[in-house]
Parts: sequence; C-alpha cells; structure tokens
Amino acid sequence: MSVGEEDVNIVIASSAAGGDEGNGSGTQPSVPTRVTAAVPTVVSASTTHTSGPTRTSAPSTRNPGPTTPATSRASGTPTTHTSGLISNASHTPGPTGTSGATVNPTGPTSSPSNIPRPTGTTANATNPTVPTRMPAPATPTQNPPRTPIPTTHNPGPVRTPANAPRVPGPSRTPGPARGTPRPVPKPDTGGHTVNYKKEKAFPIRKYCVPTVAVLLVLASIAVISILIKVVLDNYYYFCVKSFKFIPLDQWCDGKSDCAGDEDESRCVQPFDVTTNSMVRFMEAGSLLQLYASSRTSWSFICSDNWDASKAKAVCAQVGYYSEPVSSSVSISDLSTSSAILYSTVQVLSDQRIQVNPLLGGSCTSGRVVSLSCAACGIGHKQQRIIGGTNSDILRYPWQVSLQYMGQHICGGSILNSRWILSAAHCFDKGQKQIDRWRVQYGVTTLTYLFGSYVDKIFLHSRYVANQKPNDIALVKLKSDIAVSTSVQPVCLPGYDNQIVAGSVLWVTGWGHTVEGGSALSSQLQEVTINLISSATCNQEYGGQILQSMLCAGKLEGGSDTCQGDSGGPLVSLGQNSRWDQVGVVSWGDGCGRPNKVGVYTNVQTFLNWIYEVMKQVA
Ligand code: ARG
Repeated sequence: MSVGEEDVNIVIASSAAGGDEGNGSGTQPSVPTRVTAAVPTVVSASTTHTSGPTRTSAPSTRNPGPTTPATSRASGTPTTHTSGLISNASHTPGPTGTSGATVNPTGPTSSPSNIPRPTGTTANATNPTVPTRMPAPATPTQNPPRTPIPTTHNPGPVRTPANAPRVPGPSRTPGPARGTPRPVPKPDTGGHTVNYKKEKAFPIRKYCVPTVAVLLVLASIAVISILIKVVLDNYYYFCVKSFKFIPLDQWCDGKSDCAGDEDESRCVQPFDVTTNSMVRFMEAGSLLQLYASSRTSWSFICSDNWDASKAKAVCAQVGYYSEPVSSSVSISDLSTSSAILYSTVQVLSDQRIQVNPLLGGSCTSGRVVSLSCAACGIGHKQQRIIGGTNSDILRYPWQVSLQYMGQHICGGSILNSRWILSAAHCFDKGQKQIDRWRVQYGVTTLTYLFGSYVDKIFLHSRYVANQKPNDIALVKLKSDIAVSTSVQPVCLPGYDNQIVAGSVLWVTGWGHTVEGGSALSSQLQEVTINLISSATCNQEYGGQILQSMLCAGKLEGGSDTCQGDSGGPLVSLGQNSRWDQVGVVSWGDGCGRPNKVGVYTNVQTFLNWIYEVMKQVA
C-alpha cells in the first residue's frame, strides 16, 4: 500500500467522501459488457442451417457495478476536512464553548448543509450524529487561548446544520482586518500527514467511474437494441410511415397493411412483358438483327457507317449499358441463305433506333454487324451437384449465390453488372422481402460476407408458385458489380442457337451432394452432363417437359444437380469458345436417379422476357 493510500484512509475517517471512495473501490464497475457480433461462419450448411442475425454474448454473471459515480468527494482536499471544531446540537456558539483545538485564522468556513456525514470514527467520537463543521485550515501557532478571545482570531459562530433548530447566537465576529496578510492556509490534517501525491490520482478516479458507467450504459443499450432487432426481424415488420408493427407474414403478402403500401413496396414481383424486343442475336449469338417494323421483318445490319454510338444505343435496347464490342462478318459467311433483308440504322435524339431497310439491295461493304453487348462467357477453357467435382469460380466466374438472411438459397448467374438470372421458384417459400436478399459473387467457397444488395426481383408473370413452367427470375442489384477474373457475365444464347441431344453441358452450384442430404457444399461443384431430348425425358416425366424446359443429365444417374443448385446456370461451350447459358436449374425427381435427369428452364425461349425486363427496368 502506498503512502497515499494511508492518507486516503485518514481522509475517509474525517470526511464524508471517504465513505464514497470506499464504496467506489469495493464495487469498482467492471469493464463494459462486450458485445460480439458473431460473423456468420462459412458452413457446409444444411437447408435448416441458420447463420442468422448477429449474436450477443453478454456475460450474465457479471456485476456491472454502480452506474453513477460518487458525486461527493473530498478526499485529499484540505479545505473539506472536518476538524475538531464541533457544532453541537445546542449550537453553543463560538470559541469559548467549544473544545475546538484549532482556530481558523481566516474566519470560519461554513460546512455546506449537504456535506455528507462522516462515517469515520475519529471525527466526532462524542457526538457522531452531529454534523461537523468544516473550518478553514489552521496553523498550530494560531491556536487561541481559551480566554479572552482575540477578535482577530475569532473563529466565528458555528453554523447550525440546516435541519437543526436554530438558536440565536452572538453576532459573527469578523475575521482579520482587510489588508492583513492572510496566512497561507495549511490543511487541517488533524495531526496527520497528508500526502499530496494522492491528489494527482484523484482525477483518474473522478473520470474513470463516470466513463465506465457511460460505457456500461452504452453496452446495455447495444445489447437491448440487438435483442429487439432480432425479435423484430423474425416476427414483425415495422411500417415507418404509419408507425406500427405488423406480423411478418403480412409483409409482402400482396395485401397492403401499412400506409402507402409500404409493406408491399419492396417485394418480389411478377413482371409481365407484353412487348417484343426489336433486337436479337443470331447464329453464334452475336450476329445482330433488328426488327424493321416498316417491313415487319428482321434484318441484318450493314456495318457501313456503324459506330460505337450505334452499338451503345442498340445494346441499351436490351438493357446492357457497358462498353459493347462490335466487329463485322462478311455476308458470304452467313449461314442464312435466301431472302435476307439488310438495313442501316440511325440513332434518334431520344436514343431510340430507327431501322432503314435497304430495299432489294445489300450492304455496300458486303459486311454485317456482329455485336457483343458485354464481354461475356469468358471462362477458363477446359474441356451439388451429384457426382460432381470441386470447381473454381475462375472456371465459372458468372456463378453467384443468392442468399436470404444469411442463408444460401439458390444459385444464379451474372448477365451484366446489374442483372442476375435465376429461377422463380427460389422465391416461393416466403422469401419475398427484397432487402433481405444478398448476392454473393466471385467466390469458390460459399461465404456470407459482403454480398451485394438487391434492388428488385422479378419473376416471370406466368410462373405459378410450386409449379414447374416459366421458372425464371431476374434479380437487379443495387449497384454495379465490378468485373474481374473471378466475376464475369455469362452470354445469353443466340436466338437461333441449336443444341442437339447428347451435347455436352456443364452445370455448377453449391447444392447438396447427396439426395436428401442436409448440407450444402462449401466449395463450388461442377458436373458434366448431356442434353437429353425432350421426347426421352417426357417418357420418364409423363409429359411435363414443355418446350420452355430442357432436360440434361446422365440417364444412368449419378450426375445431376440437387437442392441448393436451383437458379444456377447450365452452360454450353459455344462457337468462339464463348460460354452460353442455355438453362437454369429448375427441378427433377430426386437427385441423380437413373432416368430421372434434371430439368432446366430453357433460356432461349425466355430471351424476349429477359431483354425486355432489363430494358424496361433500367
Ligand atoms: N429444385 C431444386 C432446388 O431448389 C433443384 C432440383 C434439381 N433437381 C435435379 N434432380 N436436377 O435447388
């Protein structure tokens, strides 16, 4: 124990604040409760896996201690020491009637009525209940004789505590005359030595307790807020405008429960396309054709006078806004033979395109435009998924994970920096609240951190929940995703793309690796399968396979997609080594069963819907 500590004890004995100090140190507030926001771990999650909201760890056994600091602190402050001067209950005034050992040369210092009562034993042994007076410091040489009292040394009347009955006493004798040099007051130590070093430590205690208290309060607020948020997130939706809570199942249920349809405004919604795109891409998917309404037919576009601004204007018509890449193809290389119409284009002031057919003629240059609205389909060339192998996002950089409240729900694919293609049935199970979705891209290992926020989700207007047709959806991101080696768009197939039964296709995802399994694959899986003719497929599926669906798998079983792969891309390696997405993982009977191959949404039959949604929602 240091000297200072001894002195503190002395002060405790003679001042009210000592008691506070003692209490203060005895129940020193602990460090504020730590709140840890649990980072969702990368998991081989089952379908029931809940990485969920943040977790709080608040040690329940911890005593947070006092939350208010001691306010009355006199330790080490000489002027607040109580001395031997006592004001007793009968209020005997002045020096003669008291046993005061010291005299205050500077006149009396009144003890404020709110000074706490000393708790020590030495302060007023004879009358511990009487409040002590707090005189100014006195020097030993100024001790007065008991009789007669020099007026200049008159300590003055003792002030009665506020609550004591007031007895009139003699009038107060003034202190030393003005101009008399005042002796420098020394602390009344009651005969003890005061160590002033302790005073330096005083501010630490003064500020430490309030700081800890504030931190404790903040920590408590944080914990309570998190708990409230967890409860609200899971059970209620808060209508900001009408300032009310509604049960979660009324959020995005198609019926307005909040003022201004607030509860229905950021929900998954159907998108009905009633218009036809005037743009299409032929053959390998890049030969541009525009619809010439004056001739009610499609035409190739002459590369004469073609430039970047025309390319941009055309790509905007299909909802692509990145830098397009144009080239030209000789008319003699076109596979289409007879009755071809050629046109030139003009960009109007409102950025619409005017198509001018060349009546009966051909392009002067003898060449037509080939256009890529995105640098798409660039995977690493190479020649859950059931029976798959570990893959890498670098091989399929368009693959994304669609996550709802921190859970992987489905796969998806990047079409461009704003749009993700997926399956409509991914949004069947009440996952309709857009702000709870995230899109994770550029990762091989399933992760839940830093996913992209979603702006809108559109389902095909003819998709019916829990049914198989039209199982396609588009997800619009809130901000552009940056393209890199691990983040690339996939190409959409050409309007006239033909893939024949037996064609080799690839499909990727983090879905289950065994039928009925409970765990997703943490690492992206890929599997090579073949296109199965709809005729063959329908034999097993009893005619459910429509023209808008594709079957792909292995008839012997063992290689297939499964739960959690839905919405993911089925791709083919097209001409020019470009990867086209021909299918979207949709449904199947079990996973990997013989003759029960996977069924995919036929992307080609939905090109108009995709292009029109992306254009109209730009
Ligand atoms: N519907 C599943 C999902 O939501 C995909 C099923 C694919 N099944 C199949 N046998 N290929 O993830």
